[in-house]
Amino acid sequence: MKVKKIFANQIAAETAGLLTEDKVLERIEFPKYPEQGDLAFPCFELAKIFKKNPAFIAKDLAAKITDPYFSEVVSEGPYVNCFLNKKRVSKEILLEIQTKQEAYGSQDIGKGEKVTIDFSSPNIAKPFSMGHLRSTVIGNAYANILEKCGYQPVRINHLGDWGTQFGKLISAYHRWGNEKEVRQDPIKELLKLYVRFHEEAEKDSKLEEEARLWFLKLEQGNERALELWQWFREVSLEEFKGIYKLLNVSFDSYNGEAFYNDKMEETIDLLKEKGLLSTSKEAEVVTLEEHDLPPCLIRKSDGATLYATRDLTAAIYRQKTYQFAKSVYVVGHEQSLHFKQVFLVLEKLGFEWANNLQHLPFGFILQNGKKMSTRKGKVVLLENVLKEAIKMAEKSIEEKNPTLQNKAQVAQDVGIGAIIFQDLKTDPQHSVEFSLEDMLRFEGATGPYVQYTHARACSILQKSNGSAEEPTDGLSDVYSWSVVKKLMDFPTKVKESYEQAKPSEIAVYLLSLCREFNKYYANCKILQEDDQQASRLALVECTAIVIKEGLRLLGIKAPHEM
Ligand code: ARG
Repeated sequence: MKVKKIFANQIAAETAGLLTEDKVLERIEFPKYPEQGDLAFPCFELAKIFKKNPAFIAKDLAAKITDPYFSEVVSEGPYVNCFLNKKRVSKEILLEIQTKQEAYGSQDIGKGEKVTIDFSSPNIAKPFSMGHLRSTVIGNAYANILEKCGYQPVRINHLGDWGTQFGKLISAYHRWGNEKEVRQDPIKELLKLYVRFHEEAEKDSKLEEEARLWFLKLEQGNERALELWQWFREVSLEEFKGIYKLLNVSFDSYNGEAFYNDKMEETIDLLKEKGLLSTSKEAEVVTLEEHDLPPCLIRKSDGATLYATRDLTAAIYRQKTYQFAKSVYVVGHEQSLHFKQVFLVLEKLGFEWANNLQHLPFGFILQNGKKMSTRKGKVVLLENVLKEAIKMAEKSIEEKNPTLQNKAQVAQDVGIGAIIFQDLKTDPQHSVEFSLEDMLRFEGATGPYVQYTHARACSILQKSNGSAEEPTDGLSDVYSWSVVKKLMDFPTKVKESYEQAKPSEIAVYLLSLCREFNKYYANCKILQEDDQQASRLALVECTAIVIKEGLRLLGIKAPHEM
């Protein structure tokens, strides 16, 4: 924010080099109450340095700072409070947003460098779980935020398409499978087979051994095993793609675990070469005792590789292929140990880029306070959830706006938007509570509320010939000013959401922007014909631009009408 910088620069100049402009910038606050100004600087630190009373320092500073952008600079106790020149600042910010349009808030932090982002990554032949939904939604938003900050994101779906579970599945299919049934409803039938395998394996210990052998055959390229695996993968991927289409998410790569099958030997050789492999019980491992962590398992005694072996290989492959500046993994926090181990092994291998790997963990989805998915096949089918949300949105649109054109599309945008927003408004690290009724409300902290506010802004513009002109003058009343201040804050929020890896920063910001805008709408006669009308409409237009862009970053559509 330009005005914040000017304020900081002047303060820094008065400290005889004791505080840099950056340090001052860090300390500047945004007061909660309008009586305290728009920017405030606390003088405690300077008071210590100069061994003087903070109130004295504040008074001294306040007298020295002036700028055409400031209408008044005063001290209040230990604070220097700065009141901005509302007319000047608001006019400038509205013009800036009108000029930059959706590029407003973009940053040049990434300088075009690549960041690989591993997200969604469901396991084939299993239903797409709510956990994978979280990963999909958070990962997609974070990739958009990275792009907004000047990086080039590479979206990777590290499909869970390899591992011992495929031995189990093949063995189950051989025993009880029926081709026709699987073709009809692949994931449900495959899941049934998988669940049955576990039930029967409890009674018959031979089954586990049989499955282990099937997986081994698969790793060694046995034709029958490969053929079945290929088929399971294809039908699963087709179902997943239906979900991605609904969610409007796409990937640059679907290279899953199986992709690394012929590349793992090289990783294992490298580990050997560096003297990192040792044998423990039944497997070859890399010990991580010095970090107080359990060993990272690389290869079982029968030669079968493991999840970690594939992740090590994938990381090396990604560095070679993309030369990423950073590599992010959006995976539930139950895998934190796994990623710690993998990152440490890469560091032990001497890869400098191991420092640029980042696990972005997230919490569970809860229903009535309990974890949602269970192992025994009692999973909520995501596709049904999405369809249910769309149906509910359809119903509420039918009630509120029965003559709306394009109802089906809007219902889809609103239903899906509601689910995404519900997730993203929460800090990723926390668990989120899942309730379709709550997320589809048009009031309160929901996606539909934000979309509705955007549609309201669009409809005002529509009534005044579609778009706004340049502001003739600035706006200085309290309601407009609160909106302007929010708009001014957007670039900072974009930056923070990137730095903290939290799309929730954007979601929470949008809610507060919408609240201020709706207050403005309720209290100002926007369409009244006077010499401020152009400026008021410009404010409406700029709000619509920022809401739409914020929603886009979250992966949510902003219909013009709803
Ligand atoms: N398929 C895994 C799971 O569902 C997640 C994979 C995450 N990505 C990775 N590179 N390990 O648990």
